[in-house]
Amino acid sequence: MKYDLKFLVSCCLVLTANGLFAQDIIPLPKTAQSSGKSFVLNAKTIIRYDGDLEAHAALLSGFLSPATGFDLEIMRAASPADNAIYLDLVDGLPQEAYELDVNEDRVIIKASAAAGIFYGIQTLRQLMPVGIYSRERIKNLEWEISGIHVKDEPEYKWRGMMLDVSRYFFDKDYVMKYIDMMSMYKLNTLHLHLIDDAGWRLEIKKYPKLTSIGAWRGEGAERTGGYYTQDDIREMVAYAAMRNVEIIPEIEVPAHTLAAIAAYPHLSCNEKPVKVQVQHSISRELYCVGKESTFEFLQDVFEEAFQLFPSEYIHIGGDEAKYDRWEKCAHCQKRKQELGLNKEAELQVYFNRRIQEMVKKYGKTIVGWDEIIEEGLEEKAVGMIWHNKKKAFAATAQGHDIVLVLTDHCYFDFPESNIPGEVKAATWMPPISLEKVYRFNPAIEGLDEKYRPQILGGQGALWSDQFIHGTVLQEIAPINENRSEAYFDYLTFPRMAALAEVIWTSRAGQEWNGFEQRMQTHYNRYDHAGYGYRVPQPKLVHKEEHGDGFTIALENIVAGAEIRYSTNGIKPNVYSEIYEKPVRVKRLQDFQAITVVSRKHYSLPLLFPVDYPEFEKYGKFMAEWRAVEVVSEQPVEFERKATGKINKNGTYEVTFLYLDGESDIKVEGLAVYKNNRIFASDKRPGKCGKENRSSTYIFEVDNYETGAEYSIKTKIEGIGGNDSNGVIFIKYKENSD
Ligand code: ACM
Ligand code: ZN
Repeated sequence: MKYDLKFLVSCCLVLTANGLFAQDIIPLPKTAQSSGKSFVLNAKTIIRYDGDLEAHAALLSGFLSPATGFDLEIMRAASPADNAIYLDLVDGLPQEAYELDVNEDRVIIKASAAAGIFYGIQTLRQLMPVGIYSRERIKNLEWEISGIHVKDEPEYKWRGMMLDVSRYFFDKDYVMKYIDMMSMYKLNTLHLHLIDDAGWRLEIKKYPKLTSIGAWRGEGAERTGGYYTQDDIREMVAYAAMRNVEIIPEIEVPAHTLAAIAAYPHLSCNEKPVKVQVQHSISRELYCVGKESTFEFLQDVFEEAFQLFPSEYIHIGGDEAKYDRWEKCAHCQKRKQELGLNKEAELQVYFNRRIQEMVKKYGKTIVGWDEIIEEGLEEKAVGMIWHNKKKAFAATAQGHDIVLVLTDHCYFDFPESNIPGEVKAATWMPPISLEKVYRFNPAIEGLDEKYRPQILGGQGALWSDQFIHGTVLQEIAPINENRSEAYFDYLTFPRMAALAEVIWTSRAGQEWNGFEQRMQTHYNRYDHAGYGYRVPQPKLVHKEEHGDGFTIALENIVAGAEIRYSTNGIKPNVYSEIYEKPVRVKRLQDFQAITVVSRKHYSLPLLFPVDYPEFEKYGKFMAEWRAVEVVSEQPVEFERKATGKINKNGTYEVTFLYLDGESDIKVEGLAVYKNNRIFASDKRPGKCGKENRSSTYIFEVDNYETGAEYSIKTKIEGIGGNDSNGVIFIKYKENSD
């Protein structure tokens, strides 16, 4: 590598569209002006603090110490001083607002509350060389802080992320690392999805089986799980609070509760023994709404939970309840009759109201997925809007506050692209690109202006249901670590930075191109901090068609990285040609390029997928074969992924189609694999080339499994040469169920 990232400094002066001098601060501050000369941190710099900010002074010292090697003195003081960073408590600023002044002599962070001071500190770190995030000492670097005057405050008060710690148990250390990742971008709410069919993660002393049984799934060597002890929770809550992050627990009712029912079967309607969910599917089991014992249990759980989580909010889930169990339950039907209700959905409203009643005496407000307001709910709640904006209109009109967590912008378990090799939690999930996240606007279009104050903010969601049985752990080329946490980092960064900007910065200040530019050094910060991330592909800046080909111009958008490319239609690697100037190619599909951060960390290719409208009758494009993969007169192994292309039971046709070249290929039949096990084949050999232009293979899928990896394998051989190229199409014929 040409660059050693450790010595890269942030050198980009970025002027935003509205003329703001913003360095590369994300989220973009409300106002920022250059103050001229920079401050240089040295071993003698003192951190002075006002009032009771000792813990924040120590936190700042702790942030600065690993990379600089300085053990900066902290002291209480009533005023700023030269060669000092002063944390100053002042009157009159909103809770999360701050002002930051950096000049040659001193640094001052002013705020009216610890929250604002913490955000001033986060901005300060972003004004320093990127190495400040390093956990190891970096020598011979001047720790310069750009001279600036910032006045800043957030647009929305709820800036959240949800972690699904039930389906995949993120241990305490990962949660705390995640809090660091969030707080780097001034997110302030961590919603923990603590309970679901696949695991109960919260120690409740009165009900030990919730964790001795409910926190574990699978048998023998397959057994996995875990939970947070009450001490773990206290530690996480305190760690978060120092970083202005509030943890909101989600204790789901009435569905997604199989883990609790596995521990205490009397909570369900039929009381039959059940097991904690291993494969992903939503259990039909619900807490019984007819029995008082259900509410006694929940009262006890809340009693303990509220001693751990000081938040004013309690999330009660409420999503995706199917009512079959309630329909067949004598207790539930009796309740329905006594209350004079017409349908089971109204029983869920009753459930919600009972919980509102129960938590009110603790001063708590309920939050729930948008289903909780579906049938109406009189007393005020917070609706977490995930389906679509119509749910937001309904919730606000009923008087509820809302938080937007829309599936099409905020679900980070959805992949970032459809490029082959992309990390996919599930094949059916549509991509949400970085730019798409940046286009998320919590102030949804069409909402009556009078309801605007009811929009608390926005939130990302990182579900882990598609990670529970391990089948999605396909290799991410850039992350050589077979731990799911690495995938969650990949799904989170850089998209969480975009999410943070669109909920912190006012709409008028948002600008995609400026954001993309400011992001350039943030990848370096992730490298230093040890956060995983998805490396963006090179940016296409120009593409021009000539009579005999195309010119392609690219831009590298990761500071210190390089672009490598290929012109033979095969994915480039870290040793491919370095991109220095625009490249000419005959056909667009011959060109691919990657961003290389290091030998182990690089992007998926930027490529130009081609349409073949003339082949429409063969179904959908699936893959290509390239002349360079073929050997003349010698069969070679040939494999292509079919995950996502095979997506239900039925009969499929796979067709090899000739594009160009003089020679034919021989195809030795076709074998079809699920999770690397053969399950179908068409053994008829075929030929495809200038003369026989297509060759088709047929097979049946009768045990389709969501989340499984599918592929086709064969051997191909060049006949009288190896210069032909072609494509492979797949067609779904019929349902054989
Ligand atoms: C959800 O995605 N079930 C809230
Ligand atoms: Zn019941």
